[in-house]
Amino acid sequence: MTGDVLSVKGLHAYYGTSHVLQGVDLTVGHECVAILGRNGMGKTTLLRAILGLSPPKRRGTIRFDGDDVTKRPSHHVARRGLGYVPQGRRLFPSLSVHEHLVITHRQTDGHRDWTPDAVYDLFPELAERRRVSGTRLSGGEQQMLAIGRALVTNPKLLMMDEPSEGLAPVAVERVLAACTKLVDAGIAILLVEQNLRAAQMVAGRVLVMLTGQVVHQAPMAEFALDHETKKRYLGV
Ligand SMILES: Nc1ncnc2c1ncn2[C@@H]1O[C@H](COP(=O)(O)OP(=O)(O)OP(=O)(O)O)[C@@H](O)[C@H]1O
Ligand SMILES: [Mg+2]
Repeated sequence: MTGDVLSVKGLHAYYGTSHVLQGVDLTVGHECVAILGRNGMGKTTLLRAILGLSPPKRRGTIRFDGDDVTKRPSHHVARRGLGYVPQGRRLFPSLSVHEHLVITHRQTDGHRDWTPDAVYDLFPELAERRRVSGTRLSGGEQQMLAIGRALVTNPKLLMMDEPSEGLAPVAVERVLAACTKLVDAGIAILLVEQNLRAAQMVAGRVLVMLTGQVVHQAPMAEFALDHETKKRYLGV
């Protein structure tokens, strides 16, 4: 498999007159790419702008799976296979684990169908809790369900916004280990994180954001050893 799944060029985004994304270029192939950056740097805005969710307003070019989708509505781009796991999980209190998965499941003509049962194979913890309300799960289980809910739409690329946020280290490892399996299964991942350790578990490449711009790019192996850059942009 070759070629980029996602290609973003000259992406700007605005909340009213506030110019938050200032010309972002990025590509994601069949791999996991991490976007790292501190609070308020524009990471969530970037994912929303790629998907065309409002706010913000955006300007630039988005190509996904070979097509220019810039002028397409978000639901079309989602159907084309762009999955989104939002920051804070955004589960429904009135739906059980199983209902979250069944209601969202959307079969496609791809090789593999991510059914609710396939999600339970990936996250056996969820199978045991299938009748429980999504919001009564532990933080780790909620994140697994948020990922599962995106997986059953059979995405080609998953954009995940800070999946490690608020999780204990053991849960972070569990969730990110599953992400590695997804990449092995052919799903590209654009992973937004503040937690470098979490990103290191799965991403092969890193982009660093500072006030709405990508200011640094490197292979993860190189970035992990670049203490000066890590300190300058992430404070670690
Ligand atoms: N709905 C909104 N209306 C106006 N300004 C916003 C809105 N959402 C975010 N912003 C501003 O845009 C900037 C980027 O915010 P964004 O949420 O994209 O950052 P982030 O990198 O995801 O931060 P965090 O790590 O805290 O989630 C911030 O200055 C923020 O205050
Ligand atoms: Mg955010």
